[in-house]
Amino acid sequence: MADQKPYSEKVMDHFTNPRNVGEISDASGIGTVGNPVCGDVMKMYLKIENETITDVKFKTFGCGAAVATSSMVTEMVKGKTITEALKITNKAVAEALGGLPAVKMHCSVLAEEALHSALKDYYTKQGKTPPFEDKPHNHCH
Ligand code: FES
Repeated sequence: MADQKPYSEKVMDHFTNPRNVGEISDASGIGTVGNPVCGDVMKMYLKIENETITDVKFKTFGCGAAVATSSMVTEMVKGKTITEALKITNKAVAEALGGLPAVKMHCSVLAEEALHSALKDYYTKQGKTPPFEDKPHNHCH
């Protein structure tokens, strides 16, 4: 069954060798999110200059799929404008990883939410209202 397939090579690569792990001490925005499905936690740090994400780091206390999707999302948003970064969905991250087993899709939601949460923090710190809505939480699919 397709749902039973093992992790793709890219997932294994990002899990065993995650990119951009760590913290940014003078981050422009920090987002922490927890996954209600499993209790795993992800923290994302963004450095933003001129509306562009110039640096990004993350820490994930979670499963392999969560580590791999966070790693991939940091690679996808680095150098992008906030507007471009907001277009990246958890599905796009999973696709960039060569797919995730269906039971692990909820893990990729964590990466997208951590990014949104960090961007929200950035706007709040600037005294601005974030120019995007929180998505309805749907962790199960
Ligand atoms: Fe918790 Fe994957 S099992 S994020």
